Amino acid sequence: MKHVTCIEDLRQLHKRRVPKMFFDYADRGSYSEDTLRANRADLEAIKFRQRILVDVSKRDLSTTILGEPASMPLILAPVGLLGMQHGDGEIIACRAAQAAGIPFTLSTMSICSIEDVAANVAKPFWFQLYVMKDRGFIKALIERAIAAKCSALVLTVDLQMLGQRHADIKNGMTVPPEWTLSKFIDFATKPAWVAGMLRGKRRTFGNIAGHIKGTDDITALGTWTASQFDTTLNWKDVDWIRSIWPGKLILKGILDVEDANEAVKTGAQALVVSNHGGRQLDGAPSSIEALPEIVDAVGSRMEIMFDSGIRSGQDVMRALALGAKSCMIGRAYVHGLGGGGEAGVAKAIDIIRNELLTTMGLCGVNTIAEIDDHVLAI
Ligand SMILES: Cc1cc2nc3c(=O)[nH]c(=O)nc-3n(C[C@H](O)[C@H](O)[C@H](O)COP(=O)(O)O)c2cc1C
Repeated sequence: MKHVTCIEDLRQLHKRRVPKMFFDYADRGSYSEDTLRANRADLEAIKFRQRILVDVSKRDLSTTILGEPASMPLILAPVGLLGMQHGDGEIIACRAAQAAGIPFTLSTMSICSIEDVAANVAKPFWFQLYVMKDRGFIKALIERAIAAKCSALVLTVDLQMLGQRHADIKNGMTVPPEWTLSKFIDFATKPAWVAGMLRGKRRTFGNIAGHIKGTDDITALGTWTASQFDTTLNWKDVDWIRSIWPGKLILKGILDVEDANEAVKTGAQALVVSNHGGRQLDGAPSSIEALPEIVDAVGSRMEIMFDSGIRSGQDVMRALALGAKSCMIGRAYVHGLGGGGEAGVAKAIDIIRNELLTTMGLCGVNTIAEIDDHVLAI
């Protein structure tokens, strides 16, 4: 990967190596993709102050995330179906994160199960929860995360129904999946992906397998999951989760100050300012536009994390400057996984690390704690 110099290079590799239905599933957003584009445009519009003749020889990215040491303020976000981007995708992405000294978050909708990932990585990871109608199943899932020693629970609160992604429908990325001749041809022209999938041992929703009597088939489990979106979900459910989960709790998907104030009352340790990477409410503000107000309102009472739109170390610096304590990346590492497996995820993290280090230097900053809005040209 000598000539891979930026996340966009990994995206191009991902596009070349992985069938279109899975690439588009990762790359695209909901409806007209206004919010998807706003996430990028609003980050790019934030300019830095270039500072000179400051001794920046002792730059250090290390920080703490929820009280735990981390090599840099970065987290791999929960992403469903990683195991379809690359065989055993969840395990290898988690290994790359742990080797880099940052947290990995396993999605409820993963291919490799909680137990499977726990058995194949060296350290605890975070688990992301979607609350479904079947509360018995959700309770059992939380208990499995406790038994697997997951070190934080990320409760995603912005997906009580699915924002439509046109590309997924057009590509037949539906439940059940549609098979067409063009899809077979597409798969046949991605031999490295097929070989990786055949080497991987897991092929269904690992956390849900075993729950429906008589089948572990991905289509049947997908159909069950699609029937499980719970539009009754409300703040009382967060209390219920807190009564089962004894550890650190993070609420992911907050974009509004009123909601952030409610989030404080739950006793959760952190929240993620996020619009789900422009995959849910199209027409919502960009995540970076929402960040400063939420930091002002609750930043002294909760740890504020940020995601949606990060494609570089410069973007991480922008979010930190506006008050985030750490950032999650989704697509940036999924492109690495699809484009180059474990080495690709490691490359994505490395690219962002080096970009952040250089950006700090050129802004005259040595430590993460020093980054605030004085680095911005506003
Ligand atoms: C392909 C894909 C699948 C995702 N699946 C989940 C998921 O299962 N659970 C969740 O909480 N968020 C999920 N997300 C949202 C991410 O956790 C994160 O909020 C988003 O990717 C951040 O935006 P970015 O991709 O621009 O970095 C997914 C995102 C992508 C791109």
